[in-house]
Amino acid sequence: MSKLKIAIIGNGSISESHLKAYHNNSKCQLWAICDVNEERARKTASQYDIPHVYTDYRELLGNPDLDAVSICTWNNTHAEISIAALEAGKSVLCEKPLCKTVDEALLIQEAAHRTGGLLQVGYVRRHASNIEVLKKFIDAGDLGEIYYAKASLLRRLGNPGGWFSDKERSGGGPLIDIGVHVIDLCWYLMGKPQVKSVKGHTYQKLGNRSNIENYHFYQAADYDAKNNTVEDIANALITFENGASLMVDVSFSLHARQNSSLINIYGDKGGAEIEPQLSIVTERHNTILNIDPQISHPGFDFVSSFQNEIDHFVNCCLGTEKTISPVEDGVQMIKILNAIYQSAADGREIQFD
Ligand SMILES: NC(=O)c1ccc[n+]([C@@H]2O[C@H](COP(=O)([O-])OP(=O)(O)OC[C@H]3O[C@@H](n4cnc5c(N)ncnc54)[C@H](O)[C@@H]3O)[C@@H](O)[C@H]2O)c1
Repeated sequence: MSKLKIAIIGNGSISESHLKAYHNNSKCQLWAICDVNEERARKTASQYDIPHVYTDYRELLGNPDLDAVSICTWNNTHAEISIAALEAGKSVLCEKPLCKTVDEALLIQEAAHRTGGLLQVGYVRRHASNIEVLKKFIDAGDLGEIYYAKASLLRRLGNPGGWFSDKERSGGGPLIDIGVHVIDLCWYLMGKPQVKSVKGHTYQKLGNRSNIENYHFYQAADYDAKNNTVEDIANALITFENGASLMVDVSFSLHARQNSSLINIYGDKGGAEIEPQLSIVTERHNTILNIDPQISHPGFDFVSSFQNEIDHFVNCCLGTEKTISPVEDGVQMIKILNAIYQSAADGREIQFD
C-alpha cells in the first residue's frame, strides 16, 4: 500500500516536533517541506531526506500527489493556508490556535464542511498519555459531574518576542499562545459544555522585561525588544450553561517568584490535578484518597504527545479513526479567546448566545 504523502508548511521551531513524529510513522512519507525561508527548508529537506522543497504554499498545494499538510506557520496565516489546503483536497493538521479571529474561524469551518475535508486542530495536550488515562476515568464516571476547573500557566520572564509579540501576526500574547492549550484542555475534559459568559482582564504593565540581565529566557529567532504589542498577562472566568465554571490565568511577564503551571478539574465524585503531574483525588469509606497513577509520563511529555497527535492525524487521513479535535473545537476556542479580549477591552462581561 502506498504511503500517505505529507508536507509541512512553516519550518520553524514547532515543525521539528511534527517532522520527527511523521518520520517515525511508517504509514506516511515526509514528501515536501515549504517555508518562505528557502535555505531553512532546504536544510531540513536534506536532514530528513524530503524530496520536494517549496517556498510558495499555493504551488505546493497544486501538486495532486500530496495528501496532507501540517500547518506550522504564524497564526495570521493559518486561515488562508487551511482554506487553500482544504479546497485543494488535502487533509489538514493546523497548529493551535486555529486562527486569529472568529470571522476567519467560521470561514475555515465553512471550507471544511463544503469540501468534506479533514481539519484537525493541533491540540497536542489532548493527546498526552496522562490525559488519555484521565479521560478513561472521566468517561467511566469516576469524577462525576465536573463543575469547576482552574488553569494557570505563569511565566515570570517568557515573552518569546518575534512574531509572538507582534499582535498583527499572533492575534495576542499569552492568552492566545498558551491559554488556548489549557482552556481547550479543561473544556474538553469537562465534556465541551456550552459557554454562557466570559469575563476577562488583560494587563500590559511590565512589557517583555528585555531589561533583565543575567537570566536566560527563550527568544524567537527574530527577537526585537522594541516590538511588543501583546498583553503581559490575561485572566478570565468562563461560565457554562450547565452551571460549571473555569478560571484561568496565563502570563509572559509577571513579578512572580517562579514560573508555575497548574491545571485542576473538580467533580462531585472526584477531582484531578493534571499539571504538574496527574493525580486523582476522591474519597472512599469516609477517607480521602490521593491516587497517583503509575504511568511513564505523569506530566505533559512533549515528544510522546506529539507522536500520539501525529499518529492520530495519519489514521484519520487514512480513514481508520475519527479526529478528536475537529474544526468545530477550533472555532469554539477562538470564540472564547476573542470574547476574553473583548471583555478586557470593554470592561464588561460578554454573554454568548
Ligand atoms: N502545539 C504547541 O505546543 C506549539 C508550540 C509552539 C508553537 N506552536 C504553534 O505553531 C505555529 C508556529 O510556531 P513556531 O514557534 O514554530 O514559529 P516560528 O517562527 O519558529 O516558525 C514559523 C515558520 O513559518 C514560516 N512561515 C511564515 N509564514 C509562512 C508562509 N506563508 N508560508 C510558508 N512559511 C511561512 C516562517 O518563515 C518560519 O520558519 C504557531 O501557530 C504556534 O502557535 C504550537
